[in-house]
Amino acid sequence: MKTLSRPTGTQDWVKDRAQQLSHVERTLSAVFESYSFEPIRLPMMETVDLFKRGVGDATDIVEKEMFLLQGRGAETGSQDVLALRPEGTASTVRALQQEGLLYNQQQRVYYSGSMFRYERPQKGRYREFYQLGAEAFGFAGPDLDVELLLLARDCWQALGIEHYLTLELNSIGSADDRIAFGAALKAFLLPHASELDSDSQRRLERNPLRILDSKSAQTQHILTDAPRLEDFINPVAQAHFESLCEWLDDFGLAYRRNPRLVRGLDYYNNTVLEWMTDRLGAQGTVCAGGRYDGLVERLGGKPTPAAGFAMGLDRIVLLSELRQAEQQGLAAPANPVDVYLCIAQADSARAAERVAQRLRMALPALKLRVHRGGGKLDKQLKRADQSGAEVALIVGPEEVAAGTVVVKPLRGTGEAGAVAEDQLADRLQALLTVVPSTRL
Ligand code: HAM
Repeated sequence: MKTLSRPTGTQDWVKDRAQQLSHVERTLSAVFESYSFEPIRLPMMETVDLFKRGVGDATDIVEKEMFLLQGRGAETGSQDVLALRPEGTASTVRALQQEGLLYNQQQRVYYSGSMFRYERPQKGRYREFYQLGAEAFGFAGPDLDVELLLLARDCWQALGIEHYLTLELNSIGSADDRIAFGAALKAFLLPHASELDSDSQRRLERNPLRILDSKSAQTQHILTDAPRLEDFINPVAQAHFESLCEWLDDFGLAYRRNPRLVRGLDYYNNTVLEWMTDRLGAQGTVCAGGRYDGLVERLGGKPTPAAGFAMGLDRIVLLSELRQAEQQGLAAPANPVDVYLCIAQADSARAAERVAQRLRMALPALKLRVHRGGGKLDKQLKRADQSGAEVALIVGPEEVAAGTVVVKPLRGTGEAGAVAEDQLADRLQALLTVVPSTRL
């Protein structure tokens, strides 16, 4: 029969790459928690209206990238059309609002999980991808924007990829500033409309700001003498941005001001940010976000200042792999087995299981594999060796009678020997090169 393949734009994470993804996720989550961000889990699907209102009707994401799900008619109206979440910010606002956690409160939360966008897949760009995002509510000052940037920098440092990344910042002012600027930009571009690339022509009517983002050289050339967004930014927003930049200078966090940085989601105001790399070809944005002080209100809540960002984990894993390749041998991928427990005779299976249970209690971080499927001891030891384990344990009738376990180091020169069951955990801890004291 014909075998089946994964859907276009999705990935299977197996073996070393799956380990790498888990490692990145755990390392970054630990940094987020060190800044006292709390985990939040959101639905994988939401009503389509949430993204229309939250992300914006005229954005690429809403216009052409959402995976829509038709309900089965139990409910009526647009509530019945669901979308696989293309991003996490709108859902976070919806969830905190619905749980009564926003009004007059401060919140710092982070989420991790799959997002879905119907995009043209290429290296670093997928239809299902992973994001780790941080969102903070109830903080109006630029000090919070700075904290988010320091948090991101700590993440890069924790993974050793900081040298691949540069930070770009801009201020896009308030919604009113952008309406005024959008009108001026449109008036300037209309006479050149036929010379613009097709995407920009389409955006001219509904979302002229995004034209600044265009990758077309001709469009960028036309923009040379266009009105500048920075000339339309209100004084309060300007002061916010100046203060943010001063803080960053003070903390030695390097950045580039990019007046053309506008972002593809509608909810931002004032600060917008992107961490970029030139090591992943066209998909150079590894983390992006900014301030979105108007979103809570737009989704039916009380005005609440807010800011956040999301990291693209798929791209971060690619960068971590690059770093490993460049510093070969520095971090060998973690082996899934530390210790392999062999059962010398079938009638010792329960005693062996008890040894395993006791070890798991004593050493929660130990990766212990118990042999399954029977067979001769020498075959089991061969399996143990192939598994990459550092140590094999053997439990047979003699050991059961004596209350011992045979410990056989598989790498290096150590001799095999019997160890009393109650000393086994200590003996293994002394033998193994890496056993963290707690499981992450
Ligand atoms: P975004 O710029 O759409 O922002 O996505 C954030 C990051 O997710 C990107 O910088 C990129 O690393 C990754 N990403 C996006 N699309 C793909 C894709 N198709 N394949 C692989 N990676 C991708 C947001 O989603 C906002 N919610 C960020 C935010 C949070 N703003 C405030 N808070």
